[in-house]
Amino acid sequence: MIKNFTICLLLVLSSCPVIFGQSPWYHHTTIYQIYPRSFYDSNGDGIGDIPGIIQKLDYIKSLGYETIWCSPFFASPQKDFGYDVSDYRQIAPEYGTLADAERLIAEVHQRDMKILFDMVMNHTSDEHPWFAEDRHRKPEERGARRDYYVWTDQPNNWKSMVSGNAWRYDTIRQQYYYAAFLPFQPDLNYRNAKVKEAMLDHVRFWLRKGVDGFRLDIFNSIYEDDSLRNNPTSGNIESHMQRPVYTANRPESLQFAEELRAVCDSFGERMLLGEIIGDRSVSRKYCGDKINNRLTLAFDFEMLRFQFSAKYFAKLVSNLENDFPEPFMPAYVFSNHDRRRSMKRLNNDESKAKLLHLMQLTLRGVPCMYYGEDVGMTDAKLPYKTALDPIPHYVKLPRGIVNMVDETLNRDELRTPMQWSADKNAGFSTAEKTWLPVNSDYKNVNVANASASDSSLLLLIKQTLALRNKTKALSHGALKLISAEQLPAHVLAYKRTWGNEKVVVVLNFGKREVEMSVPGTFSKVEVSNSKGNKLSGEKLTLAGWGGVVLAR
Ligand code: GLC
Repeated sequence: MIKNFTICLLLVLSSCPVIFGQSPWYHHTTIYQIYPRSFYDSNGDGIGDIPGIIQKLDYIKSLGYETIWCSPFFASPQKDFGYDVSDYRQIAPEYGTLADAERLIAEVHQRDMKILFDMVMNHTSDEHPWFAEDRHRKPEERGARRDYYVWTDQPNNWKSMVSGNAWRYDTIRQQYYYAAFLPFQPDLNYRNAKVKEAMLDHVRFWLRKGVDGFRLDIFNSIYEDDSLRNNPTSGNIESHMQRPVYTANRPESLQFAEELRAVCDSFGERMLLGEIIGDRSVSRKYCGDKINNRLTLAFDFEMLRFQFSAKYFAKLVSNLENDFPEPFMPAYVFSNHDRRRSMKRLNNDESKAKLLHLMQLTLRGVPCMYYGEDVGMTDAKLPYKTALDPIPHYVKLPRGIVNMVDETLNRDELRTPMQWSADKNAGFSTAEKTWLPVNSDYKNVNVANASASDSSLLLLIKQTLALRNKTKALSHGALKLISAEQLPAHVLAYKRTWGNEKVVVVLNFGKREVEMSVPGTFSKVEVSNSKGNKLSGEKLTLAGWGGVVLAR
């Protein structure tokens, strides 16, 4: 009896990593997202590629990031630039070869870094061989447990996440198939055990090759209702006037998250970072109820449309702290390959970007930065009509309307080539023409300039990451918000603590200078984002949009 009790106690304690000081790496890492097509072109064809990423790994390492996440470079007709996979074990030729992908994994590891691949599990390309097989499947061979995709004779009211009806008629099979995103991305049928096993096997294939985890594309759409019940209608325009009760967040998807986690865990500590569309209670569910036994992290999409104010961020942080306490961890993301860049939302104001990233890198959570955010790249303005991105060709809304909600339909605008220098094509490629034009601000905004400056956003990111990487209070510690009543208007402040180690972060979201007393006994300025910030005894002066990290 006593022996059993001791064993139970040990089991419980060992699932409390904080007590043992060994919480998993994926809760303390820092992520840099690469959009391979736009990062670095090593062979002069105007398209970024895997050898190009390898050439730039030292740069990412020099910033202080540990983990890279690469958007998909698997075989694909590229109708949605890799988010339409036709073979999960091959590399699209414009990005390189399987050997290049293996070399990338090895080169990342040689630098003590980690790498996440992007797994698109919800759907494939309509050019995947399974789709051809299903289209030609004879009626007597069909059925939910046999088909690779979701088919019906009688479409229900389900809407695609992007445009109108989610059911598309296939003239060969003479039935409708379901596509949660775009018509050329048919949804896989996970009720067919063969599909599920094959997809888990693709995951194992890459785990065996050494990848450290995956970002999971629209993961909460994996399962749909078995009996295809109609979604209830709603007044919400963003969810196409219906509540996606039967198309998203089905209980089977949560169960699948556990199965996927078990597969990854059998290879050691591997990260699963979910793209979960919906509110925070939903993304939390995908990580687990009481223990973190599902995805290791989930993105929170609300913050991609952040408001630049202390009040907004105080509420955001407080909510995330409530919803993701240990053993869970929030992720902080302000830009990605689908939404406007943070710099554009900040009206291209570098001082504001410095404050935003100082905060992002000092909060309790995994920060995820999109390529180019490091130098303050902003969105280009590119026409909807000639977009390479498929979305503007399916959603017919005028730019004026989309601008009103501060978004763009044309994701080309935020996927332009990385700006390395003031040279031709911003140093991205030697080609005559790059796949997307380089943003016209590249002569000023680029890595070479930022590296030569003593006050760039890039330098601030480096300094803050260097501090984070050596300070457990920042990378692992607890966070306590200082209440707004104790602070001047527009100031956000929080303490981070790990054992005896303590730091305080004080951020002024106002444009005017503020003077205040230091919250606690902190006398050392570790990082400061502006020459106007000053600490003198107990008096702290912060410039407009000024922020500091103070230690004892
Ligand atoms: C995700 C990806 C996006 C892609 C879509 C369909 O939202 O981030 O880029 O177009 O899924 O796979």
